[in-house]
Amino acid sequence: MSPRRILVTAALPYANGPIHIGHLLEYIQTDIWVRFQKLVGNRCLYICADDTHGTAIMIRARQEGRSETELIDQMSQAHQRDFGAFQIQFDNYGSTNSPENYALCKEFWAALRAQGLIAQRDVSQLFDPQAGTFLADRFVKGSCPKCQAQNQYGDNCDKCGATYSPTDLIDPLSTLSGARPELRSSMHLFVELEKLHPFLQQWTQSGDHLQPEVANYLKGHFLGEPLRDWDISRPTPYFGFEIPDAPGNYWYVWFDAPIGYIASTAQWCQRTGDRLETWWNDPHTEIHHFIGKDITYFHTLFWPGMLKSAGFNLPTKVHIHGFLTVGAEKMSKSKGTFIKAETYLAHLDPAYLRYYFASKLGPRVDDLDLNTDELVAKVNADLVGKVVNLASRSARFVESIGLAPNYPDDGGLFVRAAQAGTAVSDAYESCDYAKAMRLIMELADQANPYVENSQPWVLAKDPTKRDELQAVCTVALNLFRQLVVYLAPVLPKLAEQCGRLLNEPITNWQQSQQPLLGTKVSAFEHMLQRVKQEDITAMIENSKDSVSEPATSSPQWNDTAEGLTAEPLAEICTIDDFAKVDLRVARVIAAEQVPEARKLLKLTLSLGGDVQKTVFAGIKAAYQPDQLVGRLVVCVANLAPRQMKFGLSEGMVTAAGPGGEEVFLLGVDTGAKPGQRVH
Ligand code: MSP
Ligand code: ZN
Repeated sequence: MSPRRILVTAALPYANGPIHIGHLLEYIQTDIWVRFQKLVGNRCLYICADDTHGTAIMIRARQEGRSETELIDQMSQAHQRDFGAFQIQFDNYGSTNSPENYALCKEFWAALRAQGLIAQRDVSQLFDPQAGTFLADRFVKGSCPKCQAQNQYGDNCDKCGATYSPTDLIDPLSTLSGARPELRSSMHLFVELEKLHPFLQQWTQSGDHLQPEVANYLKGHFLGEPLRDWDISRPTPYFGFEIPDAPGNYWYVWFDAPIGYIASTAQWCQRTGDRLETWWNDPHTEIHHFIGKDITYFHTLFWPGMLKSAGFNLPTKVHIHGFLTVGAEKMSKSKGTFIKAETYLAHLDPAYLRYYFASKLGPRVDDLDLNTDELVAKVNADLVGKVVNLASRSARFVESIGLAPNYPDDGGLFVRAAQAGTAVSDAYESCDYAKAMRLIMELADQANPYVENSQPWVLAKDPTKRDELQAVCTVALNLFRQLVVYLAPVLPKLAEQCGRLLNEPITNWQQSQQPLLGTKVSAFEHMLQRVKQEDITAMIENSKDSVSEPATSSPQWNDTAEGLTAEPLAEICTIDDFAKVDLRVARVIAAEQVPEARKLLKLTLSLGGDVQKTVFAGIKAAYQPDQLVGRLVVCVANLAPRQMKFGLSEGMVTAAGPGGEEVFLLGVDTGAKPGQRVH
């Protein structure tokens, strides 16, 4: 059989956050499949990139006071460092913010336009006047229009499950600034997906490209009715690619993200002198996408539609996996189960997670639970106890003499395990790694009694039994190596160690079919430590603290000493002194001009419930009253009231800056509630 040509992608991780163990489920699953394909001799590429565009990146860059490109460069490095440490090996790791991607986006766009698939109409959307940007659903919070539950996102309600548009929210607030958003209308461009309905119906339901449960889901949820137009543009300001024939508008991040698969392949082609057409236009090439279930819609409807329209190959298969839970619950920052790749690496060997995921991953979309007790048990019992043990109990006895020149009688163990290779490779091919691991461990269960019964450590004490010792160790090490070849896609480091031990690198699945004979045996190096429960506990503890991300490098802040010079630090105060000042979170529920006052605005603050305070604040030059209504501030709540010309001031709002137009109210992070004390 001639080798297949296979292009494999994993979803492009967002550049606005670090890699965590949920992501790793996907990148490890995909890496195993790619390594398997390469091991059996297929030509296979593993392509990925950072997904860099969108509002979230723009906002984060702003908050951190640096450019988007600086932020995404740093994130890309951090991502690649984490992937590398987990032995996730990409053939190319690109970025959606690349010239290659822009060129391809234009090509897709021209094709969609040419086929009359783009429509234009106005959309009313919430706009944050303070942040100066339209607000995506996730950036608006308010009360649910259906059940009135407070503090709900703009797309759906946690409490009653209602879905709605952010404009339906009661008392909406921008999570960016706390300001009350306004409704503004702007022009948007849409892909008329319904025009591709017949094609998508046929492609999704053909039975070849999708898992059956996915095909059914699409049929039940989308394909039974007209497909909705897909809003593909965003007005400025937006971090992304500007649309060439619609200046001031940008492609929505989900337009250029999947095109990034092709752009990253193009980079690989430039680097290696290959042709992009070979990978994306030649029908003999297979294209396999691995993704999580949350992005099914984009990859099974929108993306095939785009590929079809622009004349590229369609995916051979979209492999969809479920979500990772930890201890049967959603990953949680407060419980320490939102484990970043970086934190994991500080405590545990990546091989543990690779093996554990492999032992649990099946071909279906089911969620996968990480149970740390089970991880400890599996790794210690299977990998250390059954696999590595075969080598650690035999290798050192043949360090000086090497493997025997002929393969001894092992009662048929090697041959039977060689025959089992087909079932193992079928399981890998169909993404049933759990089955592959089960089959491999059954083989390990058959190999271990051989070593126990032959007792090389006893033979080693008797100088007349040198040949027998060499024979037994030759069998043990060959059975070990055979298992390691089968495990190589999952445990590449173990495969390297085995290659060094027996002086022949593992590069090919076929090496599991023939025993290795007559080679030298190197000094045994330790291969895999047992997992220690205390390391897991420490990792979880450590994850609890890392809720907010540490700055991984120091960005170029250019802060001068101006603030301190203008107003030097006051003398030391005790904690008790500080405690006398009762600072509280408050919401501005009304703000009015005081016509007679030059500097003042009259604010009504709510401390929650019925408790309100009137405050006259010297911020008139810096803020418009309607910018303030709805936002949270920090107020000095126990300040002695003061009678002013315009009324009684019952407190003070905190602000920084020299005054006049340069006054900056203190904000609080999302989640804080009026009435909470500031410590
Ligand atoms: N940027 C998009 C993908 C664009 S692809 C053209 C995105 N990024 S992501 O960083 O949120 O997720 C990347 C991949 O990781 C997705 O396939 C997603 O399903 C997967 N996972 C993220 N969290 C996960 C879990 N907790 N569990 C399993 N997979 C998870 O989506
Ligand atoms: Zn509700």
